[in-house]
Amino acid sequence: MNYKEALHHPIFKIIAQSAKELELEAYVIGGFVRDFILGRGDAKDIDIVTVGNGIKLAKQVAKNLPEKTKVQVFKTYGTAMLHFDGIDVEFVGARKESYHEDSRNPVVENGTLEDDQNRRDFTINALALNLNEAHFGNLLDPFDGIQDLKDKIIRTPLNPDITYSDDPLRMMRAIRFSSQLHFKIEQTSLKAISKNKHRIQIITSERIVVELHKILESKTPSLGFIQLDETGLLNYILPELTALKGIDEVEGQRHKDNFYHTLEVVDNIALNTDNLWLRWAALLHDIGKAPTKKFNKKVGWTFHGHEFEGSKMVYHLFKRLKMPLNDKMKFVQKMVFMSSRPIVLANDEVTDSAVRRLVFDAGEFVDDLMTLCEADITTKNPKKFKKYHNNFKIVREKIIEVEERDHIRNFQPPISGEEIMEAFNLKPSKEIGIIKEAIKEAILEGEIPNEHEAAFQRMLSEGKRLGLSINN
Ligand code: CTP
Repeated sequence: MNYKEALHHPIFKIIAQSAKELELEAYVIGGFVRDFILGRGDAKDIDIVTVGNGIKLAKQVAKNLPEKTKVQVFKTYGTAMLHFDGIDVEFVGARKESYHEDSRNPVVENGTLEDDQNRRDFTINALALNLNEAHFGNLLDPFDGIQDLKDKIIRTPLNPDITYSDDPLRMMRAIRFSSQLHFKIEQTSLKAISKNKHRIQIITSERIVVELHKILESKTPSLGFIQLDETGLLNYILPELTALKGIDEVEGQRHKDNFYHTLEVVDNIALNTDNLWLRWAALLHDIGKAPTKKFNKKVGWTFHGHEFEGSKMVYHLFKRLKMPLNDKMKFVQKMVFMSSRPIVLANDEVTDSAVRRLVFDAGEFVDDLMTLCEADITTKNPKKFKKYHNNFKIVREKIIEVEERDHIRNFQPPISGEEIMEAFNLKPSKEIGIIKEAIKEAILEGEIPNEHEAAFQRMLSEGKRLGLSINN
């Protein structure tokens, strides 16, 4: 492979020139090199390591760039960053590091390129390309990272116990890369993760969530979640999910393993949507089943109210992980809360009014809800599988039909409160609410179309029923 091709962007020549002016060695290292070799497309992040002062080099590069460019300096870390042509370029001086037991913050000393490669997380992330004029484009691969890329293996440059204990976030990174790239984590590495799992507790939630998102965004997220579970990390991060594990049996009646079912649902939905929050909804759609599980002699296992319970748990989970408690969280809550609604439809005959109610309650998210529910079909019975999918197809068609006719999705009452007050000469009172509700119900039931005239007539008859007299 000609690694020079990786360096076709003009920024690399400018970095090389700047390093020469300062008489420094400079290399591009890490994800950029890895992703070039894997053919993962043009990276938007470039990491530059220099044997010397990274901040100085960044400033020199900025001076040599064709347009005025700001350098962001992170003094405490000895790093600097600049943005050029849509690319973030980060500069760091090569270093040796050792970490304290109770924190991620390393004690940093200057080092050689080799020292710096040693302290990186994985062999595939320690690959470096030389940017110095005489050796421009030469690969530096002290740990056989290229071979690991070929063999699809995640391996640490040092003893994994040291690498993971130095920076426990790397345990999640290993699993995240494994899930993203379909790579295998080497056995000793996996063992070291299991052994050091408790150290994930010193990592901030924000950084854990970044990795969780990358796992969820991968093509087959279950690969990541199964490894998080097997190593014991999942119990620290998302105990709501591990609580779904296992099958209970009472009097010969069993329920399904809701953990593996959930992972199937997540993999299914990943085939149909890149919407990260919808994938979160799939991951969390059954979490209410653990606290609501009951056995009843007559009906067997029940999970009554698990959707409501689950939607409440979503809030606590987001809060604990310091995820935004905004409209994204509300969306996930809504999906979890409504996750059984279309399934009930799919069991019975699909009536217009049931579809109208579904559209009314799900509003603009009704398509997302359908996508979630289709992913939720994990039955291994081919007859049932076909029946549910067919019924959902009918539901989807009816949604379009009903929507064209009745515009329920962003329902606005066709008769306003003012109009009702005016018609019956009323002051604000509970009768207005009763009439509005009756009109809405009539529309959802299909008794009247969602139109002003029909609604007006219904208002009059409803008013009459309540004993109101019409204002002439
Ligand atoms: N790195 C590390 N330990 C970490 C994080 C990062 O050793 N906990 C090193 C790796 O060499 C990595 C590089 O820093 O390649 C850049 O890290 P980052 O930008 O977070 O990840 P990438 O490897 O670039 O991958 P991605 O862009 O997919 O996150």
